[in-house]
Amino acid sequence: MAGVALKLLAPWRLVKLRSLVRSSTVPSLKFHTTASPMMGATVEQFEQAKSKMATLKNDPGNEVKLKIYALFKQSTQGPCNTPKPGMLDFVNKVKWDAWKSLGSISQEEARQQYCDLIGSLVEAEGGSPAQVGAQPTGSGTAYETLLVTTEDAITTIKLNRPTKKNAITTEMYNDIIAALEQAGKDDSVLTVLTGAGDFYCSGNDLTNFTKIPEGGVEEMARKGGDLLRKYVKAYIDFPKPLVAVVNGPAVGVSVTVLGLFDLVYATERATFHTPFSQLGQSAEGCSSYTFPKLMGAAKASEMLLFNKKLTAVQACELGLVTEVFPDSSFQSEVWTRLRAYAKLPPNSLALSKQLIRAVEKERLYAVNDAEVECLIERWMSDECFNAVMSFFQAKAKL
Ligand code: COA
Repeated sequence: MAGVALKLLAPWRLVKLRSLVRSSTVPSLKFHTTASPMMGATVEQFEQAKSKMATLKNDPGNEVKLKIYALFKQSTQGPCNTPKPGMLDFVNKVKWDAWKSLGSISQEEARQQYCDLIGSLVEAEGGSPAQVGAQPTGSGTAYETLLVTTEDAITTIKLNRPTKKNAITTEMYNDIIAALEQAGKDDSVLTVLTGAGDFYCSGNDLTNFTKIPEGGVEEMARKGGDLLRKYVKAYIDFPKPLVAVVNGPAVGVSVTVLGLFDLVYATERATFHTPFSQLGQSAEGCSSYTFPKLMGAAKASEMLLFNKKLTAVQACELGLVTEVFPDSSFQSEVWTRLRAYAKLPPNSLALSKQLIRAVEKERLYAVNDAEVECLIERWMSDECFNAVMSFFQAKAKL
C-alpha cells in the first residue's frame, strides 16, 4: 500500500533517512526495563540498531524508509491510533498509512522487525548483521551453540551444533542453564528444547573428557559433577511447561532429562539410547528415579544398565514420549499444537506444573546429588577412561 502511494508522492524523495527517524522521537517510551528479558529484541538491541542506522551510507529507498519509520513508531508508541491526516497532507498521510499497516503487532515484535531490517541494511553494506539485534530474543545474550528465539509466546532453545550431532560441550551446558533461566523469567508461556539438523542430541560431548585441567582427572571430575548437578537442577526447577521436540535420535543426558519434561513429542525417526555401561558410566538426569517410575523397573534397567536403544514408538509405549508423529509432518503438527497450547492462560499452566513438581522436588534433588556423586567416581575410573578412548580410536580408524 505504501509502495503505491510513494510512486505518486514526490515529496518523500526529500525525506532524509536520519531526519525521518529523528523526527519520530516520542516523549514517552513504553519499554520494559532493560534488564527484563522479553519477546522480540531487547531495548539495548533496539538502541544499537538505531545508532547503526545513523551510520548507513546508502539511501535504502523510500519504501524501506517508510517501513523503518513505521516500525520505529510501533516499537515506541504501539499501534497507530492517531487521527488520519487530511488528503492534502501527503507526507504525513503516507507515514500514517505505513504505521497503520502494521496493525496490532506488539512493540516487542516491532522492535525485533526493526532490528532485523536494520541488520539486513548493515549487511548489504558489508557489515555484520550480528552487530544489530541478532542476539537471541528472550535472552539478551548471544550463544555460540544455541539458537534461542521467542515467537507466539513460545521460547525455543535449539541446540545448534548439527555437525557434531548437537553433542553438549561444557560451554553448551552453561549456555543451556542460562537460556533456561532466562526462559523461565521471560514473557513466554511454553519453553521448547529441540535440535538443529538430523539429530536431537548425541549427549555429553566426549571431548569434555579429554580436556584435563592442571588439577588432573579429579578436578575434571569434580568440576564436571558440579556442572551436571546445576544442569539437571535447571530442569527440576524450571517453572513453566517444558516441551521436548525430539527431531531425531537422542543419546545420553539428552534422553535421561526427558523424565523431567512436561511433554515429549518425537518424530518417528527418533531413537532413545543411554549407553552408560558401554561407556563405563552411570545414569544421570534423575533417570534412576524417573525411568523406573515411568516404565517400570525391568524396562528401565534394560535402558539404563544394558544400553537398549528404543524406537520412538517403544519410548511412547513406555511413557517416556507423549506422542510420536510421522517425520514428514512432524514440525507442522507439533508447532500447530504448541501454538494452540501457548494461548492457554499462562499462570494456570505454570501453577499446575509447579504443583506437580513440588510433590517430588526434594526427592529429585537427592536423586540428582546421588547420581552426580556416582558419576564423579565413574569419570575417574579406568572403565570410563578406556571406553572414551575407544570411541575416539574407532573414529580415528574410520
Ligand atoms: N561427543 C563428541 N563428539 C561427538 C559426539 C559426542 N557425544 N557425538 C557425535 N560426535 C561427533 C563425531 O565424533 C563426529 O565428529 P567428526 O565429524 O569430527 O568425526 C560428528 O560428531 C558426527 O558424528 P558421526 O559419529 O560421524 O555420526 P554418526 O551418524 O555415524 O553417529 C552417533 C552419530 C551419535 C551415533 C555417534 O557419533 C556416537 O555414538 N556418538 C557418541 C554418543 C555418546 O556416546 N554420547 C555420550 C552418551 S553418555
